[in-house]
Amino acid sequence: MDKLRQKLAGGSKSDGARPEPSQDALNNLKEKYEKAGQSQVFTFYDSLSTEDKASLFEQLEGFDPEHINEITDRALNPPKEDGDEPGDDNLEPLPDSATASILDSKEEDIEKWYESGLDLIAANKVGVVLMAGGQGTRLGSSAPKGCYDIGLPSHKSLFQIQAERIRKVEELAAAKAGSAKGSVVVPWYVMTSGPTRGPTEAFFKEHNYFGLNEEQVFVFEQGVLPCISNENKILLESKSKVAVAPDGNGGLYQALVLSGAIDDMRKRGIQHIHAYCVDNCLVKVADPVFIGFSAAKDVDIATKVVRKRNANESVGLILSKNGKANVVEYSEIDKETAEAEDPKQPGVLKFRAANIVNHYYSFRFLESIPQWAHKLPHHVARKKIPSVNLETGETVKPEKPNGIKLEQFVFDCFPNLPLEKFACMEVRREDEFSPLKNAPGTGEDDPGSSKRDITTQGLRWAQAAGATVIADGGVEVSPLISYGGEGLEYLNGKEITAPAVLERE
Ligand code: UTP
Repeated sequence: MDKLRQKLAGGSKSDGARPEPSQDALNNLKEKYEKAGQSQVFTFYDSLSTEDKASLFEQLEGFDPEHINEITDRALNPPKEDGDEPGDDNLEPLPDSATASILDSKEEDIEKWYESGLDLIAANKVGVVLMAGGQGTRLGSSAPKGCYDIGLPSHKSLFQIQAERIRKVEELAAAKAGSAKGSVVVPWYVMTSGPTRGPTEAFFKEHNYFGLNEEQVFVFEQGVLPCISNENKILLESKSKVAVAPDGNGGLYQALVLSGAIDDMRKRGIQHIHAYCVDNCLVKVADPVFIGFSAAKDVDIATKVVRKRNANESVGLILSKNGKANVVEYSEIDKETAEAEDPKQPGVLKFRAANIVNHYYSFRFLESIPQWAHKLPHHVARKKIPSVNLETGETVKPEKPNGIKLEQFVFDCFPNLPLEKFACMEVRREDEFSPLKNAPGTGEDDPGSSKRDITTQGLRWAQAAGATVIADGGVEVSPLISYGGEGLEYLNGKEITAPAVLERE
């Protein structure tokens, strides 16, 4: 646990002049790394300044090299389980009892979930967890993804859009319950990582927490792991620094415990948690329907999914694998399975529940993290990792992948649950899922598609409310005006010239 705490504390942070580590302490540490076959990390140690020696020492002390070797080995050579041969797995869609679809549920059921979700929010039992520790390499922005301006008329960042949805859902819940302004609080637990924490905190402060209370925003940091070369050696990023990377979105679980976020939830009496990824500009943060649905089913985890567009779409699927809830990547299923039709709905894919990493957790489930999080496997991501040439001491930016990052996946705990404690809700893609993954101009999942999807949704809402929209460019509706299309009656009979932005006074 101590090691993890150190890792979460950010490894080697400088907090003033530090003394050189004692010879004894250094020898002990060197011995550990030598025994693990990782002594290359000390290659430049003797030539470093006192400050750099201290910081490298501190960073290395934060890792157990034997443990790193073990998880690397397990990630590269995963143990075979029953049904590990291709075609051996018993794959089935989740049972009907565990699923619902916004596309074909009865209006009265959706309404019931919405109302009960709002009641839970009004009772201050709902919290929100944001996963924002990724490095956003494909997008290519140096700032954290949440700070990104997707080009809306308002120029709101993803963080601001999400914060305003929290404010709005608090208001809706308070209005329903007749509670005083400010008495409904949805705490926002924002997971960052070494690279994103500082700039995220600065951005929140600079924007005055987007109108939220500073006390309801809990920024925490996930762990990091060393990057490993293709020869299974820990890589150095510079002579005095190990190359590290966040430990994947599955690092969420350990980080929730070690950061004290779980304690904070307990203190506040939070019972229901919505968790989502920063890159989804359409995310319904703390969605009352989803909360109400999951609470009514009394499950420990629920996931939102969208319908897979076609048999070839490259998405992970949520399904039952050998009797347990699981995510199966598109590369792991054969053509026949991918193309199978639902016997109950001809023309509709049998396996269509596309994973969008949008989850509900019960608090009792998050409290059980210490019992299982250390057992979650690590996965291999082959990457181009800038690293020091041990002979010349120069940092080289490789052209091809030269090593791996070790990552945990947030869904690897799904199979731990009995199937009856897991549920799945299908939602409309155009209303709830538009991820920002790629650089501008890519044409898919890029800033342009994020902007288009928000302004097209606003256009639909305005038209449904009775407005006439002329010209192109869509309508941006501020989350402070409408959370999910409600409250727009005042637009009835109005004419709006697009592109337009509807903002609260
Ligand atoms: P992605 O896997 O799409 O990664 O993350 P990314 O960092 O956004 O982008 P690339 O792959 O580097 O281009 C999906 C979600 O999981 C979060 C991300 O912040 C994003 O919300 N995530 C990912 C973490 O919180 N921590 C991680 O270690 C990795």
